[in-house]
Amino acid sequence: MTKANTGITRRDWIRRSTLAAVGATLLPTFPKGFSQNVSNIAPVHPELKFINLAGNENPFGPSRNVSLAIMKEVSNSCRYPFREEKILKEMIARKEGVQPENIVLGNGCDELLSAAGRIYGKEGSNIVATKPTYLQLMEKAEHQGATVNWIPHTAEMKHDLESMQEAIDSNTSLVYICNPDTPTGTMRSFESIKSFCETAGKKTTVFLDEVYLEFLENFENETQVNLVREGLPIIIGRSFSKMHGLAGHRIGYTIAPKEISESLEHEKNSSLNYLGVIAATASLRDSEFHKLSVRKITEGRNKFCGLLQELNLSYTPSHGNFVFHYTGIPIEAFQKKMKERNFLVGRPFPPYDLWCRISIGSPKEMELYSSAMLQVFKGKRG
Ligand SMILES: Cc1ncc(COP(=O)(O)O)c(C=O)c1O
Repeated sequence: MTKANTGITRRDWIRRSTLAAVGATLLPTFPKGFSQNVSNIAPVHPELKFINLAGNENPFGPSRNVSLAIMKEVSNSCRYPFREEKILKEMIARKEGVQPENIVLGNGCDELLSAAGRIYGKEGSNIVATKPTYLQLMEKAEHQGATVNWIPHTAEMKHDLESMQEAIDSNTSLVYICNPDTPTGTMRSFESIKSFCETAGKKTTVFLDEVYLEFLENFENETQVNLVREGLPIIIGRSFSKMHGLAGHRIGYTIAPKEISESLEHEKNSSLNYLGVIAATASLRDSEFHKLSVRKITEGRNKFCGLLQELNLSYTPSHGNFVFHYTGIPIEAFQKKMKERNFLVGRPFPPYDLWCRISIGSPKEMELYSSAMLQVFKGKRG
């Protein structure tokens, strides 16, 4: 075969044939990526042998369509993703009903939480937040010299919005609210968050972390993105790590008024990766997977709560892909017991030192974990 009669060089032809052959052997093993082909290969590090129920990841991703999109684009990952990022940002803006100037893409939502922590965490200012919750923003703010006014939970382990509102003073630069919250999974109602933001937004900025909100079946009715459309100083945080099942690709975004978005864009200090952008773009179109993801997580969560009931262990009503439950065992000792059984479970969340957060794994992982729970709490052999 010569370039003259086909337009393809011999090198191209070999490359394409090889890719086709590799594709042909790998494709039938979907939907779970390449797992069937590589399952017999030893982990790259002994630590990786553990079943990880600690990170609130979504084991059902990436979807088949996303995996195919990634494979198709692998050979283009020698490129910077500038054009692809622009396309992704426009798609997100359309989905959220805002302008692209309202969207900032980050290397995970973490990057944007960190940027907000640096912007609003100046010395002399304070951040109002609850504890325990997701700490990324507050840690960065404290590092910058701000103080954090920690407001304890209500008796139901929910945000005490009334006390948080009262805690806002003239030095409060930001309020952080995670809804649904972690580790508890609890939520405050749409109306109470809305009215909190409308009042607080007259005095300060609110970071509303909605990364777990997409696990709700009626997600569109629960997001507060409308407040951004109305021009309130609200930053909404979202992630492709949760419902989309793309944690390893590190993509998140914020939705905020233009001036706030500009300062977040200016403050962020890393960039996105090509295949992550491709994965997120393909995942946005994959509404079938979104339904599947929500259904599977809800099923796994309900089943695990059934086990907790059987074991008489109390838990909070979770709206996320995790459950926070009482163990009666100091968390470090409980982590050790589970690690001996090959599981990684959630970290300490003081002051709930006798509680543990479990991320919902695949049905097989949860079946194995249920046996471990029975061993620990009933002395049963799994
Ligand atoms: C409440 C909350 N916000 C943000 C993040 C970070 O998300 P990302 O993976 O997009 O950085 C997490 C991660 O677990 C989280 O629990």
